[in-house]
Amino acid sequence: MTHPTPAVRARILSVSGHELPAYLYDLTALRDHAAAIRAALPERVELYYAAKANPEAEILTALGPYVDGYEVSSGGELAHVAKAVPGRPLAFSGPGKTPAEIEAALDLGVQRFHVESLHELRVLAALAARTAPAGDDRAPRPGVLLRFNLPLAAASLEGSSLAMGGRPTPFGLDPADADTAVRLLTDGTYPRLRLLGVHAHLASGLDAPEQLAVAESVVTWAADLAARHRVPLPEVNVGGGMHVDYAAPERRFDWTAYGAGLGRLAEAHPGLTLRIEPGRAVSAYCGWYATEVLDVKSSHGEEFAVVRGGTHHMRTPATKGHDQPCSVLPVDAWPHPWPRPAAAADRVTLTGQLCTPKDLLSRAVPAPGLRAGDRVAFALAGAYAWNISHHDFLMHPRPAFHFLGPPSTTA
Ligand SMILES: Cc1ncc(COP(=O)(O)O)c(C=O)c1O
Repeated sequence: MTHPTPAVRARILSVSGHELPAYLYDLTALRDHAAAIRAALPERVELYYAAKANPEAEILTALGPYVDGYEVSSGGELAHVAKAVPGRPLAFSGPGKTPAEIEAALDLGVQRFHVESLHELRVLAALAARTAPAGDDRAPRPGVLLRFNLPLAAASLEGSSLAMGGRPTPFGLDPADADTAVRLLTDGTYPRLRLLGVHAHLASGLDAPEQLAVAESVVTWAADLAARHRVPLPEVNVGGGMHVDYAAPERRFDWTAYGAGLGRLAEAHPGLTLRIEPGRAVSAYCGWYATEVLDVKSSHGEEFAVVRGGTHHMRTPATKGHDQPCSVLPVDAWPHPWPRPAAAADRVTLTGQLCTPKDLLSRAVPAPGLRAGDRVAFALAGAYAWNISHHDFLMHPRPAFHFLGPPSTTA
């Protein structure tokens, strides 16, 4: 949906221009969406939310009733998420975990480490041995899911907007290291660790059939590994990366088809816990970045509107090279004594206040007659938007944040 929800629209129109730009999150819409995702998944499939998509505490707590846990990818996320949703299961991912971060996770009692290399496994084993309560062999041992960079079918590589696997990348273990890693975890070398299974986050931007094909190949590969070593691998996490279509926001990821496919996969592997960890497709739709038009001008035959703020607040269109979907909220009042600039053409390119031609939010938007003072709401701003942006460039003011809908009572 490109248009803001009624609650978001009313709030955008109720604040004055200098209170913009603002991020507005509709927590009711987020809860409804998360509930629908949960309902589409079989009971046996666990849903973790990848906090990196949007780690605002209000978002994390609103998702609480619908998720089984949270995936964190740094010491910062770990501390933040543990505080925002205390006591909820966390999985610690990410390449280049520092010893201090690993120790912090062990101290917090994190039970799932997504291990990215043999070196990281050695460090984790050493630190887990150091932090284990002396003489207590029954103390819970941290669990390991070995992250692998597995082959990706050509169709998935091509369909993906960001491939983290299936080609040379710094993510996960090479499959050639699989036997060594499993042996180290099962032959008594690392007695303070427990091998739980396999993790793979191979690509982003895949639709449901492609995601299912990836999940099937990861589970089959993990089952072969378990059989080869005659060890149980009770968990497989097939990652996130569910497609969000910025060009056609109404075309949402088919959670029903995906859930049905995961159900068939789970049935074929009794005793296996399947887990997914989406971020973008969970939180993108609940957020809007709203602003007002400051100036409208023509340049070499093209119409431009400069809005308050820009890609230093919402970097998403710059990183992904797309036009952020948006809608115009006309404002009739014009309180100034000077004339009001307005677009002469039907299509207007919306840019921010930065001194760079890269500060493009949306090109050739159908907005006939767009005027200074009108408001613009950019949709799909609930994921990888504010938190990936270069806020301090040019020292413009930061946006306001509005969380709409009843606050969460529990996580
Ligand atoms: C390990 C891991 N899991 C999950 C995600 C979430 O991906 P998405 O937000 O595309 O669903 C990412 C994103 O980079 C990731 O690196």
